[in-house]
Amino acid sequence: MKVFVAGATGVLGRELVPQLVARGHEVVGMTRSASKQDLVRGLGARPVVADALDPDAVAQAVASAEPEVIVHQLTALSGKMSIRDARHPERSFAFTMTNRLRTEATDNLLAAGRAVGARRFVAQSFGAFRFARTGGPVQTEADPLDPDSRQPGLEAILYLEQAVTMIEWGEGLALRYGGFYGPGTSTSLAPDGVMAGPIRKRRFPIVGDGGGVWSHVHIEDAATATAIAVERGQPGIYNIVDDEPAPVREWLPVLASALGAQPPRRVPRWLGRLAAGEAATAMMTDVRGASNEKAKRELGWQPRYPSWRLGFAQGLG
Ligand SMILES: NC(=O)c1ccc[n+]([C@@H]2O[C@H](COP(=O)([O-])OP(=O)(O)OC[C@H]3O[C@@H](n4cnc5c(N)ncnc54)[C@H](OP(=O)(O)O)[C@@H]3O)[C@@H](O)[C@H]2O)c1
Repeated sequence: MKVFVAGATGVLGRELVPQLVARGHEVVGMTRSASKQDLVRGLGARPVVADALDPDAVAQAVASAEPEVIVHQLTALSGKMSIRDARHPERSFAFTMTNRLRTEATDNLLAAGRAVGARRFVAQSFGAFRFARTGGPVQTEADPLDPDSRQPGLEAILYLEQAVTMIEWGEGLALRYGGFYGPGTSTSLAPDGVMAGPIRKRRFPIVGDGGGVWSHVHIEDAATATAIAVERGQPGIYNIVDDEPAPVREWLPVLASALGAQPPRRVPRWLGRLAAGEAATAMMTDVRGASNEKAKRELGWQPRYPSWRLGFAQGLG
C-alpha cells in the first residue's frame, strides 16, 4: 500500500518506516526540515517537506503521495524541559506545541486524507496516567478515564482520539502507547535519557507505597503494532503496552539495576507532594495501568519484549 507517515523522523517514525518498507509498503515520510530529507531516504521512504500546522502545505504533501493510509506520529516532545517545566509541564513549549500537533495538525491531516480518498488513518495517542483511579490496577480501552486528571495535554489527546476514531470516510485507529523505552527514547527510559540521570544519582525515589501502575512498551514493539494497524484492525482505540503493567516499586529497582545504579530511595508521600507536586506524586502512587488484550486479540500483535523485565535487561539500547 501507499502509506504517508507524518512524523517519519521521530522516535517512533524512525522504527516504523523501515518496518513498513520491509512489509512491502511504499512510504512517503513528512518532515519540516529540508535537512532531514536524507534521514527519511535512509529509512527507505520518499521525503516530503511540510509544516504540519500549515493546512495548505499538508494538503499538497498528502496529495503528492496519494496515500491509502495516513499515519500521524507528530509530537514536539524532544524540546528540553527545565525544572520549572517538570512541575508545570502544561506551561512548557513542548506541551503547548504537542497540543497543537494533536489538534490543528490532526485536522489538517484528516482533511488532506479525506480530500485524496485515503481509506485509513492511524494516530499516536498516549495511554498512561489517564484512567479513573477506581477499580483494579489494570484497565481496558472500555474503562472510564479520570475526570479529574491533571495529566497535561489530556484535552488535546481526547480531541485527537475522537476526531480520528469518528471519521466516516475511512477507518480511524488511535493507538494509546505506553511509556516508550529503548533506543532513541531520549526523554524516557533510555540509558542516555532524561530519567536515567536522576535514577543513577538516586534522585528518582519510590514515593509512598510506590503503588502507581505504569505500562511500558519497547519502541520496536510500538512500531510493529503501528505497522500492523496500518494493515488491519477495526476502527477504535487500542492500548499498545506490554503484558506486565507493574507498580513503580517493582519496575523502578529493576530499571535502576539495569542502568548500573544503586536501588532507588524511598520517600513518604507528603514529601513527594512537597517536592514534585500532586500530579507527579499520583503517578508514583495511584495511577492505573493498561491492558493489551484487545491489541493482541484484534490486531494479532505479539510484543517481542512482553515484559519490561526482559526489555530493561536486553532492550534499553
Ligand atoms: N508514549 C511515549 O512514551 C512517548 C510518545 C512520544 C514521544 N515520546 C518521547 O518524546 C521524545 C521526543 O520524541 P521524538 O523523538 O519523536 O521527537 P519529536 O520532537 O516529538 O518529533 C516527532 C516528530 O514530529 C515531527 N514534527 C514535529 N512538529 C512538526 C511540524 N510542525 N510539522 C511537521 N512535522 C513535525 C518531527 O519531524 P521533523 O523534526 O523532522 O520536522 C518528528 O518526526 C522521545 O524521547 C520519545 O521517547 C514518548
